[in-house]
Amino acid sequence: MLKKKHKKMEKGIKEIFTRTSIRNFKETEISKSDIELLLKSAMQAPSAGNQQGWEFIIVDEKETLEKLSKVSPYSSPAKKAPICIVILGNIQKMKYPENVDMDLSAAAMNILLQAKAIGLGGVWLGVAPLEDRMNMVKQIFTLPDHLRPFAILPIGVPLKENESKLRYDESKVHWNKY
Ligand SMILES: Cc1cc2nc3c(=O)[nH]c(=O)nc-3n(C[C@H](O)[C@H](O)[C@H](O)COP(=O)(O)O)c2cc1C
Repeated sequence: MLKKKHKKMEKGIKEIFTRTSIRNFKETEISKSDIELLLKSAMQAPSAGNQQGWEFIIVDEKETLEKLSKVSPYSSPAKKAPICIVILGNIQKMKYPENVDMDLSAAAMNILLQAKAIGLGGVWLGVAPLEDRMNMVKQIFTLPDHLRPFAILPIGVPLKENESKLRYDESKVHWNKY
């Protein structure tokens, strides 16, 4: 839902302004074609040197969703969603591994915005760079060391839509000098 201030905006990607984190979902299944669209959107993201060092695990098994919901005290949405997309960085395939988290952030954001655009919702559950969370994800999937668990994105049909608020704050904008 858009507030009045948003309605004045005539240009731009509306999902940037209407997306909110969704942590509760309907039981509705997500179609394979929608999942594919989300993954295509992720892989369309920019990356350092165009290295595209991302990999994705799609989880739809209840038992594994349950395990993912225990990765941190804040990851309970994982078990409420029909699927989670676990984003990994493949360090072995990166020319610029120091950029892994930036590359994967761009991919994550594309997924969340595309989800909003097709009537789905999701939330970014932080994993990297916190060692304990990364280790838990590594254990769940028995991942080798060159795969860096980055984030868990539960995705589904929102149980209810949240109202988004405009966050623009002119005091944070500096022209030519600080
Ligand atoms: C790096 C990162 C980690 C986050 N980790 C969590 C998390 O573990 N659990 C959660 O419920 N939300 C998490 N979030 C979602 C934020 O809480 C949310 O984006 C923020 O409160 C703003 O709300 P909005 O997404 O509805 O605009 C995370 C977001 C980011 C970018």
